[in-house]
Amino acid sequence: MSSKSTYFIANWKMNGSPKDLIQIKNLDFFIKNRFKKHNKLIVYCPPQPLITYFAKKIRSKNIKFGSQDVSNNNFAFGAFTGEVSSHILKNSGAEYVIIGHSEKRLAGDNYNTIKQKINNANQNKLKIIFCIGESLKENKNKNSLLILKKQILASLEKGLNFKNILFAYEPVWSIGTGIIPSQSYLIKVFSELKKILIRHYSVKSPKLLYGGSVNAQNIQSLKMIPNCNGYLIGGASLTSKNFIDIIQNYYS
Ligand code: PGA
Repeated sequence: MSSKSTYFIANWKMNGSPKDLIQIKNLDFFIKNRFKKHNKLIVYCPPQPLITYFAKKIRSKNIKFGSQDVSNNNFAFGAFTGEVSSHILKNSGAEYVIIGHSEKRLAGDNYNTIKQKINNANQNKLKIIFCIGESLKENKNKNSLLILKKQILASLEKGLNFKNILFAYEPVWSIGTGIIPSQSYLIKVFSELKKILIRHYSVKSPKLLYGGSVNAQNIQSLKMIPNCNGYLIGGASLTSKNFIDIIQNYYS
């Protein structure tokens, strides 16, 4: 992964069908014909059953595919109904995997399962989009930095291949709400995250992403945040029109 790329990562959550290939095709057409010179990487994370189909249809050096989750079981195959291993993902066209999203934490993922998922993905050479973020209550109680530090230290072991990890800061109170943190708050959080990662893991230039209600309007202010290498985008990534508007405004 080039450190200079800007990442636009689409988290489709539980949305999409094979006919939405057209959304990705539109985006592919757009980036091939415009913004050729910009160093950017688009990663689509649709529901798992769509990954292989999309990955086979779209061959682009700027568009990759990822999963929104992975099993915490450390086996390539086995009797784990409903689970999808890193190995299976890797062989299905996924190069990336989102781990630790707040919606999965809410559904039961704890520090330990997240750690296992990260280790499995790391072993199978999937690139990891590791999500961290504080709740509204934690934010109001001014505990954000403590929580972020805990989320990192509790789930990341020292021997990981940090070149393959993207850190997505997604305040839970910002996801799907239309509310984004202030610039000054984000600058502070990003600089603290850098400090934690260098102090505890000697990661000098971590790739930091912001996620939560990113849209074509607020990208104008989000793009000013130093140390921010890209965005994890939910709702606004579902249609090529909205997604293209974000990329266009980022580079304008
Ligand atoms: P949102 O979701 O852009 O719809 O707020 C982001 C995310 O949950 O990753």
